[in-house]
Amino acid sequence: MYDIPQRPRRNRQSAAVRDLIRETHLTPGHLIMPLFVLDGQGRREEISAMPGVFRLSEDEVLKEVGACVQVGVRSFVLFPAVDEELKTPDGSYGAHPSNFYLRIARSIKAAFPEVMLMSDVALDPYSSDGHDGLVVNGEIVNDATLPLLAAQAVAQAKAGFDFIGPSDMMDGRVGVIREALDEANFTQTGIIAYSAKYASAFYGPFRDALESAPKSGDKKTYQMDPANRHEALREAELDADEGADFLMVKPALCYLDVIRELSVHMDRPIAAYNVSGEYSMLKAAAAKGWIDYDRAMPEMLTSIHRAGASVILTYFAREFAERYQAENLPR
Ligand code: PBG
Repeated sequence: MYDIPQRPRRNRQSAAVRDLIRETHLTPGHLIMPLFVLDGQGRREEISAMPGVFRLSEDEVLKEVGACVQVGVRSFVLFPAVDEELKTPDGSYGAHPSNFYLRIARSIKAAFPEVMLMSDVALDPYSSDGHDGLVVNGEIVNDATLPLLAAQAVAQAKAGFDFIGPSDMMDGRVGVIREALDEANFTQTGIIAYSAKYASAFYGPFRDALESAPKSGDKKTYQMDPANRHEALREAELDADEGADFLMVKPALCYLDVIRELSVHMDRPIAAYNVSGEYSMLKAAAAKGWIDYDRAMPEMLTSIHRAGASVILTYFAREFAERYQAENLPR
């Protein structure tokens, strides 16, 4: 016997003791499920780089939302996969009141009024240039983009979205969107700002899903440099001042320190986006038998929650909730 005064292993000696002292409790109520939507009926197209994730038409989306609600996921964010012919330099289809994205939002809210529906605001899914802002002479221009984003946001609020999600990273967009919403009397519609959104390689599968990759150049003049932490705090402070209700960090797993930083310094709920590439990496390793998916998936989500994100946007939401409900999450 050695004289070891502190023996932390005592607190890990049984499942009962581990249950007593567990610090982080992630539940399906913390999760937002992203859904890719497209026009038409009866369409369900699997995304090749995201096994288990589909582009869904209205009827199929309603089934998916119903299945998620059954297991306790009540929040959703929608992304549109738009036909190439509808894309224009100014992405005006995004604010067109009869576009399929807004129609699907209306029918989700009609069928499931209790769900929280979040939108995505940016030009890229609707833009023939594939950039989040307006491209003029090869430059992504800031101020001329803002009214286009505000028009999208107001159209989305009219369609019944509860929270608007500006993901474009233009300067000043949260303030302009807040003002436009208030002006149109949508004072109850909130803003979940993509505040610290990095120029990340982990969005690759998402851009394939929407065919929304930039036609030229990259997003480094508006999305953040992965090397920066202080800048994230600056972005978060600006968005909070401009009226954001939640502040988001994106991606999640390589940016847990940024999530921590914001959760310590900001007095707004912090959301984190567990992005497409993070999903695909785990699914690919699991398919090869290289990793234990059943343990790694909840471990990933718990670590994001532990870092300080109360809200997690994740493609794992439904699967996590199904396991949570069946009480077979490995501990
Ligand atoms: C578009 C947008 C992107 C994502 C969410 N909104 C892609 C991008 O910025 O290129 C990525 C989500 C994911 O990878 O899961 N503004």
